[in-house]
Amino acid sequence: MDQSREHLHAPGPSLWPVGFAVGVVVLLVGLVVSTTVVAIGAVIAVVFTVLWVRDIARGRGLVETTVLEPEMRPAPKATPHLSDVRLEDRYPRNVFLELSTLGLGGVVGGVVTLPALGFMIAPAFLKQGVKEQDVGPVSDYPLNKYMVATFDSDPSQGTVARRAAFVRNNGMLGSQPSFTIISSRCAHLGCPVQPNGPKFGSEKKVGDITLQGYLPSGFGCPCHGGQYDTEGNRTAGPPVRALDRYSFSVRNNHLWIGAPFSVSHVDGTGAEALIHKWTYSYPGQHVDGIESWLYPIEPPR
Ligand code: FES
Repeated sequence: MDQSREHLHAPGPSLWPVGFAVGVVVLLVGLVVSTTVVAIGAVIAVVFTVLWVRDIARGRGLVETTVLEPEMRPAPKATPHLSDVRLEDRYPRNVFLELSTLGLGGVVGGVVTLPALGFMIAPAFLKQGVKEQDVGPVSDYPLNKYMVATFDSDPSQGTVARRAAFVRNNGMLGSQPSFTIISSRCAHLGCPVQPNGPKFGSEKKVGDITLQGYLPSGFGCPCHGGQYDTEGNRTAGPPVRALDRYSFSVRNNHLWIGAPFSVSHVDGTGAEALIHKWTYSYPGQHVDGIESWLYPIEPPR
């Protein structure tokens, strides 16, 4: 009989831990780069963890056992009681080290992965509803003129929730009304932007809404000199993108301001303008180009 078969064979070295480590590295890089890279890293880490666990389980199952000829087979021993088996015999050192390494890796992976996954998934479960704001009858917005509408975005928060929007009635685009509604939040650090131009008409109050006409040649920020044209495109100073805008709807001849969104730039003007829209982003954050890859992932709002 081949005596070499009487030896126990431990499983060979596995490459799956390397794949797991690569997945964790990709995930960590993704925390700086983008949620897509985080997801790719998480998938790689999970897949290689599964393969690693499967490998260990198989390796233990493949340990070769000695098959002896019947005449050489020793008399069967009585099965020892579990309490009679020493702990180190039940859990050999190599198995203990493999399982503890795997467990530790899983804990570290979970600590790194779960917050990132939370940031990715939580917004879908958080209340994302944006409170729409009625800013008065459409007739209060003269054609092709800017009105500054000042309103409370959340009356329960008091004056800190006071917002201003530059609203221009562009007339009709086909059968749909067209409005340009630009946020006054500077795209540099968030200071309130002002219209560069004189007022026209008198201030009008509609409930909690204040309306004032302006004839701006653009918009300017008093904090660091950021300048924008009448479409909100950055023309000078430190802002990194165009001014944010608001979506809108017209219901019962009233204009309603909806969710804000960010804009990289605008081509054209008025109703015909091509607006390059992006997810609502913080001031100072690039929304396109290579710089946008270098900005950390935003926590859910
Ligand atoms: S906050 Fe507007 S230019 Fe700095």
